[in-house]
Amino acid sequence: MINKPRGTEDILPSDSPLWRKIEQTAHSVCAEFGFKEIRTPVFEDTSLFQRGVGDTTDVVQKEMYTFEDKGGRSITLRPEGTASLVRSFIENSLYANPQPTKLYYLISCYRYEKPQSGRLREFHQFGIECFGGTSDAADAEIITLALTFFKRLGVKDLKLNLNSIGCPVCKKAYNEKLKAYFEKYRDKLCETCLTRLDKNPMRIIDCKSEICSEIAKDAPRMIDNLCDDCKAHFENTKKYLDALDIEYTVNPNIVRGLDYYTRTVFEITSDALGAQSTVCGGGRYNGLVEELGGKPTEGIGFAAGLERLVMIMKAQGLCDTEDLRPDIFIAAIGDAADLTAQKLVYDLRSMGYKAERDLCGRSVKAQMKYANKLNSAFSLVLGDDEIKNNSAELKNMSDGESVSVALSADEISSHIR
Ligand code: HAM
Repeated sequence: MINKPRGTEDILPSDSPLWRKIEQTAHSVCAEFGFKEIRTPVFEDTSLFQRGVGDTTDVVQKEMYTFEDKGGRSITLRPEGTASLVRSFIENSLYANPQPTKLYYLISCYRYEKPQSGRLREFHQFGIECFGGTSDAADAEIITLALTFFKRLGVKDLKLNLNSIGCPVCKKAYNEKLKAYFEKYRDKLCETCLTRLDKNPMRIIDCKSEICSEIAKDAPRMIDNLCDDCKAHFENTKKYLDALDIEYTVNPNIVRGLDYYTRTVFEITSDALGAQSTVCGGGRYNGLVEELGGKPTEGIGFAAGLERLVMIMKAQGLCDTEDLRPDIFIAAIGDAADLTAQKLVYDLRSMGYKAERDLCGRSVKAQMKYANKLNSAFSLVLGDDEIKNNSAELKNMSDGESVSVALSADEISSHIR
């Protein structure tokens, strides 16, 4: 037997209603906030992620699914959505429209990580990106959208963690401080962090190795080293959140795992998740559009991991979804009844009812057992007599009451409505 690849999951029929509910909620909340859906390719030119996500990140250094296609091009399965959206924003001249450009996406992503609970190699994200939103209000708007989405789904006990990681100006001075600090531990840092020390010391703060994270605990913090503009931006963002009574914790340790962030970064966590507790992460990326060849344009967004969201919703008993049980099951015995059952089922479906019949050649008794298993609301049994009399007993499966009906979809419908 061939099994699914490690780190992937089948979304089975028992779970797909919950997924659909999540996706529908994403569509409706985005419509309320004026975000439009965009769909981009599953694979992109590898250099997009190298330049966009950053070549000192774990994602680019260790986790990308990269291969050469038959034309000799280096291709990568998208590890995230932001770089692809920036590419599309520039390539399709979306900047020519009145700004901001507000986009959202529901996508699969691919990262070669060590699989564990809440960490997969193929996973799904609901994400949004806002381009050209220069005001501090945009930061609060994005965070509010994320929280509205979770609230609409009934998810409880989420924590919003907020930080600012500054702009290229204050980051430069801060990186020097950081470098001087980590330099003292050069002989203890892991091999990956040694290369980060020269290229991007902030990444060391995000290292998962025990020794590096212990060393990073006492490192200087970006939030204490912000320039005046970044400080003012952070204070304003918090003011907007305060005005909306949104609770948050300023967490100076959030640096995010991707290189493009500037200023506001945030993560939404849940205790229901265990080690991989972040269900949603995002922030500003004011230099990314320019880095990828566009005109300087501010950007901000987030992505929520849908597998992790499903885990939280199951833990919180939020699995009430649309009722998929059949409205009616029509059992039949004999050729004439079989054809009539087929026609009635088809007519009822075209009227919007969930109508079922047997497709396995079962006896009438077995058909009724099957109708019970499907938890059908009503049943109708057709045999030669029913066809001759053009009438049958419509049974309410929950109370056992039955009523005589003519064999027409209109008449049946008037009783099961
Ligand atoms: P990220 O933090 O890498 O950010 O991923 C966002 C969310 O995707 C995480 O919080 C988590 O819920 C989920 N996720 C990430 N990796 C995995 C995995 N291996 N298995 C399961 N779930 C996972 C981004 O991707 C940014 N593009 C977010 C963003 C948008 N920032 C600005 N705009």
